[in-house]
Formats: sequence, structure tokens, C-alpha cells
Amino acid sequence: MSKRVLVSGGAGYIGSHVTVELIQAGYEVLVADDMSNCDLTCFEGVKKITGREDIPFVKMSFCDEAATEKLFSDWKIDAVIHFAAFKAVGESVEDPLKYYGNNLNSFVNVIGAARRHGCRNILFSSSATVYGEPDKQPVTEQTPRKPSTSPYGNTKQICEDILRDCVAAYPEIRGIALRYFNPIGAHPSALIGELPRGVPNNLVPYITQTAAGRRECLNIFGNDYPTPDGTCLRDFIDIVDLARAHVCAVARMLDDKMEKEYEIFNVGTGRPLSVMELVNAFQKVNNLKLNYKIVPRRAGDIIAIWADPTLANEKLGWKATRTTEETLAAAWAWEKHLMGKN
Ligand code: UFG
Repeated sequence: MSKRVLVSGGAGYIGSHVTVELIQAGYEVLVADDMSNCDLTCFEGVKKITGREDIPFVKMSFCDEAATEKLFSDWKIDAVIHFAAFKAVGESVEDPLKYYGNNLNSFVNVIGAARRHGCRNILFSSSATVYGEPDKQPVTEQTPRKPSTSPYGNTKQICEDILRDCVAAYPEIRGIALRYFNPIGAHPSALIGELPRGVPNNLVPYITQTAAGRRECLNIFGNDYPTPDGTCLRDFIDIVDLARAHVCAVARMLDDKMEKEYEIFNVGTGRPLSVMELVNAFQKVNNLKLNYKIVPRRAGDIIAIWADPTLANEKLGWKATRTTEETLAAAWAWEKHLMGKN
């Protein structure tokens, strides 16, 4: 019997890609999502890619303790990957209670229900945002976390701590936190990808929407940073590569391969790329000219961060494999797919 993985927030950008990879690796997946920040586009895409019309889907909020409890008693769940969370940094500064309320309560409910229903394995979707502006590059899992500059970032730190403390206190559960760097791109089928509501905050959706003519001009936030070309440096990780890291982490838990009850892994390429390099690579690989201009720095941006992914390479047997060109071609193919639908 294949093991069943609950993917909370499974209709969203990362959750839908992870669902595909889990199914293709032979797991049963149960998708649950409150649909507060997405529609069914990606879930429908997941069904097409996998050829599975029967993927169970439950519309629910994990802030609803009774609904969470019911989900875990209705299904036998072997592992849960918790994505369900709000993720807009700026909005979290304006409305912190929305973020603390949703992101913390939902995770507390998931851990509580998992414990009570014999689901040992909990994977938390964390972020490189926990490192803040690092003193040394690349960052390893031992690099100290810095005080968070946004309530969103703070919820990632607090959820990591909740998981660490629960694993220490309750022997019936164990956990992994994956710290993502900058996930970008889309599935090569162009059937699932990022679907930002309103004006995108993140770089790649803004680029693809500008290329599509939905935005007039890409603003590049600052070219006077102390970096080789003056723009910020990031570790852009392909979404399919990122999704595969989850499959490796789930297998590590389900196959009893964990060395400690709580483990943390960076999920990045280990290669820094500047914002300008990314913009140029997008233009080149897709053979188009992007309308962009340099504008002042964006408040709160860190200058540079990239991963040391050695631990994930060695312990998870995972490595980023897709090239920036493949990733940016996929991002553009997805945007064109959306244009065709409108
Ligand atoms: N950028 C632009 N123009 C844009 C959007 C972004 O120049 O229109 C630049 C940013 O200034 C930054 C880089 O592109 O230098 C990447 O920006 P993103 O918004 O795509 O990503 P961030 O690195 O800011 O965000 C990431 C994660 C968040 C996390 C945040 C913490 O996506 O989840 O780091 O700082 F909270």
C-alpha cells in the first residue's frame, strides 16, 4: 500500500508542483486548501499532468481546528507537508494579526491533529528569510537566524520553533523544515505555475507579466548595492527542483532515515545570480526585449543571500539540476499559457 501524504495549501504554487512530484514518485496525495489565495487552475493542471482525475481535494482552513481534526480522522495520513500560509511580506507589516493568526494557528492545529491521529511525519515549508541579511555567504543551516524584519518572516521563525519544541516534547512525531531560497519558474508542461493575485511582488512573475504586456515596465529596485553589478544577489531555485526536494525529505521520514528527530535543510542551488543577470537571461533565452528601468531600492530588501546546499545534497540525496535558462523558458511558457486562456 502506498503511503498517503497530506499537502496543506496543495492548490497553490509550491503545493501543486509538490503534489505532481509526489504522485509521480508513487505516493497517494490528499490535497487540502482554503482557496483564499488561488483558484482551481493549478489543481486542474496537476490532474492533467499526472493523468489522475481522482486526487482527493478538501476545501478547508487549517485554522478551523474541528475541520483539521476531522480531516485526520477521515483519512489515514502518513506524512503532512504544511504549505498553507499567507506569504505577502508587505501585507504582513500592515496587518500582522492576519499573519500571526493564520500562519501560527493553522500549524498548531496541524501538529496537534497529526499527533492525535498517529501521523508521525511533519514537513514544514520554511524560508531563507529566517537568515535575514547574512554576515557570511553562502549560508549553511548553522548560520545564525537574524531577528525578522517582517511579521511574515517572523511566522516562519516561530513555526520552525513550534516544530522543534513539539518534536522535543512529543516522541510520537518528528519533523523536517525546508528553508527555500527564491523559488521561480513553472512546470515544463506549462500547466501549472505561479498565479499571483493583483500586482506581483516577486521578480519573475513581474518579468513575465511585463513581457506579456500586462505590466508596462519592470522596476529594478536599485543598482547601487555593493555587488558586482550593483543589483541584489539571490539563489533562484527552479520550482520542480524545489518540489523534488520535498519528495526526498518525505522519503527520508517515511523510510526511517532521519538522524535526528528534527532536521533542517537549505533548498537552493548554491549559485548566486543578480537581478540584472536574471533579467538578461530571461531576455536571451526567450528571445525578447523587456521594458525595464532602474528605480530606487525597495525597503526591506536584503543585499545578497545564497545557499550552501551541501547538507541537502548529502543527506537528502537531492541536487538542483535545472538550468536558469530552462527555468526561465518554463516561466515564460506558463505566462503564455495563461495569455491563451484569457
Ligand atoms: N525585484 C525587482 N523588481 C520587482 C520585484 C523584485 O527588482 O518588481 C528584486 C528585489 O528587489 C530583489 C529580487 O528582485 O532584489 C528578488 O525579489 P523577490 O521579491 O522576488 O524575492 P525576495 O528575495 O525579496 O523574497 C524572498 C521570498 C519571500 C521572503 C523574502 C524575504 O520570495 O518569501 O525573500 O526577504 F519573505
